Amino acid sequence: MLQRTDTDEARSEFEDLARSAGAEVLGTVTARLDTPNPRYFVGSGKADELRSERERLGADLLLVNHALSPVQERNLEKHLGCRVVDRTGLILDIFAQRARSHEGKLQVELAQLKHLATRLVRGWTHLERQRGGAIGLRGPGETQLEIDRRLVAHRMKVLEDRLAKVEVQREQARRARKRNAVPVVAVVGYTNAGKSTLFNALTRADVYAADQLFATLDPTVRRLEGLASGPAVLADTVGFVRDLPHDLVAAFRSTLSEARDADLLLHVIDAHDRQRDERIAQVNVVLAEIGADAIPQIEVWNKIDLLPDAEPRIERIDGGRRVRVHASAREGRGLDLVRRAVGEALSGARVSGRVHLPHAAGRLRARLFELGAVAGETVDEGGWTLEVDAPSQLLAPLLGSSDPEAARLREALSLNGHGA
Ligand code: GTP
Repeated sequence: MLQRTDTDEARSEFEDLARSAGAEVLGTVTARLDTPNPRYFVGSGKADELRSERERLGADLLLVNHALSPVQERNLEKHLGCRVVDRTGLILDIFAQRARSHEGKLQVELAQLKHLATRLVRGWTHLERQRGGAIGLRGPGETQLEIDRRLVAHRMKVLEDRLAKVEVQREQARRARKRNAVPVVAVVGYTNAGKSTLFNALTRADVYAADQLFATLDPTVRRLEGLASGPAVLADTVGFVRDLPHDLVAAFRSTLSEARDADLLLHVIDAHDRQRDERIAQVNVVLAEIGADAIPQIEVWNKIDLLPDAEPRIERIDGGRRVRVHASAREGRGLDLVRRAVGEALSGARVSGRVHLPHAAGRLRARLFELGAVAGETVDEGGWTLEVDAPSQLLAPLLGSSDPEAARLREALSLNGHGA
């Protein structure tokens, strides 16, 4: 494996990815790179070091924790005498192994073809330059390349058409659910956090869970019973990973759309993970990217069985506006608390209280009126004193915002109607 000098975490995650794809890691070489070399990505000295390491270890594959240009990939392959796969190629390979539904398979094939298409096209120009124009490449060679490109383009078009149809069907199903007013709860989280295990435990469904990254590639949707608020729909989603190539985020957006359209997110977190806080932040960044950051969220701190003395419990932070459930999906502990927290969030626990807003907070005041959250108001010289009372779900985006006045609101309001 080849790594740019980076944190231990980045390195161990890449090793996990490699194992997820079924590779056995024989060795890792790190490189400090200020400007990537156009020929090999690394400098030629490092390329020689890689070659001797490969020979010494008897490796038959080099994985590079970075995106390579098609030219760099091929030059390295020639230099080392073995296959070279970059980060995008590796993640695509894992996706390809894991895709189970019709839609997932279509998406993976399309993403792979896109990756391949740039390589066919650029590979051609590269050879052209190297060999002096098209000399030696015309005739059957050229024809084959043209045919390959046409076949790839045709297949991509077929896949895009099919995916468009699947998306329409999915949209219809989603609208039908909205009409039935069944709330949708999406299970999101970093890869390997235990989403599928929690999903299974809550719905007793037999969804594939494995100690490999990306065990879930398709949202799987099941009915969730036993909530105080009545039945809901629970959707499992694909795991997040740091630096997911942007092409792939786009290719997988429909698997994430379950999260974007959900009424509530269950953010599953591996409480035992050394990088727990960093990963929570990374998931939240991706949620913001797909427009799901305003959806109310319950954190499930999973795998407490791995922590000394941890017991299942509901933790309420910020006066109850943030809810964190400590549980163990694998041991089935704390599931009742997860159901309770979900039921509370969906049955519209209310926040209320009295808050004083200065004149400068006029916009916040207007927004509260717009939302119908104001039960009464008195005016004084300094501004307004509002009696706020509203379903907590309604105010969650406002309370979570970075607006300095929102902090004032957070301090003044409290959640009621549901004891811990
Ligand atoms: P991706 O599909 O890769 O995103 O993973 P996921 O988040 O769906 O994780 P999954 O449910 O596949 O679980 C990953 C690993 O963690 C499996 O080996 C589970 O058995 C294990 N696991 C899940 N929950 C717990 C738990 O509460 N305690 C312990 N110790 N392990 C757990």
